[in-house]
Amino acid sequence: MTEQINQTLEFIKNAGVKDIDFGLILGSGLGELADEITEPIKISYNDIPHFPVSTVVGHAGQLVYGELSGKKVLAMQGRFHYYEGHSMQTVTYPVRVMAALGAHSLIVTNACGGVNESFAPGDLMLITDQINFTGDNPLIGANDEKIGPRFPDMSNAYTLEYRETAKKIAEKRQLHLQEGVYMGFSGPTYETPAEIRFARIVGADAVGMSTVPEVIVAVHSGLKVLGISCITNLAAGMQASLNHEEVVETTNRVKAEFKSLVKETLAAL
Ligand code: HPA
Repeated sequence: MTEQINQTLEFIKNAGVKDIDFGLILGSGLGELADEITEPIKISYNDIPHFPVSTVVGHAGQLVYGELSGKKVLAMQGRFHYYEGHSMQTVTYPVRVMAALGAHSLIVTNACGGVNESFAPGDLMLITDQINFTGDNPLIGANDEKIGPRFPDMSNAYTLEYRETAKKIAEKRQLHLQEGVYMGFSGPTYETPAEIRFARIVGADAVGMSTVPEVIVAVHSGLKVLGISCITNLAAGMQASLNHEEVVETTNRVKAEFKSLVKETLAAL
């Protein structure tokens, strides 16, 4: 693993990437934020040693390095999903790379389904905590104590101080920011109505197919985390049917708001 990371680092450093403060993972339909990075260096995932090929339509599939809101960032325009057939270790490999580049924090974003009955499509949600319901974990296997502990404490996975900053920014902008627990499923099926009733009973406010593994690895690597979800639809059983087109439409509708929330919060972190 360390050797792989070193090879990846060498390649992206040769492309001009230097140390970073923040890693950014931009979910479905939210990748445009990376277009606002100044003096960007863009590197296609396909060119990076040990990066898998992303298969999701609508994701650019590149790293974008540069400055955003006065911070040095490395953004992923499109992420790797477990449902694409990648191992959890592969899905989270870019987070390892971000940590190795000196990142102290990760901002993770996603599109997800709303489980909380007070949510509406188009709402943005600050993630307060997560439930790993994927049935897998990226830390299964030998642990490298140099990177992180065998049994990471997930008590404060989503950094309180960052959540408070994001809430203050939202308030100032009069932007309605929901808060809640994100429950990660493997996908690629959307959930059944029974699974959504179950999710609500166990304390989920939103459900999705990403984020959980990346945040586990971020915590393992000692990174602070800010998570922002876009509720693109109400979860199964709460609306007539689900489809990817609606997910895309909703992210398009709210992406301006999403971008300003993330940019202004980043500036204040
Ligand atoms: N479920 C899972 N993932 C999703 C959803 C959903 O309802 N909407 C967008 N991503």
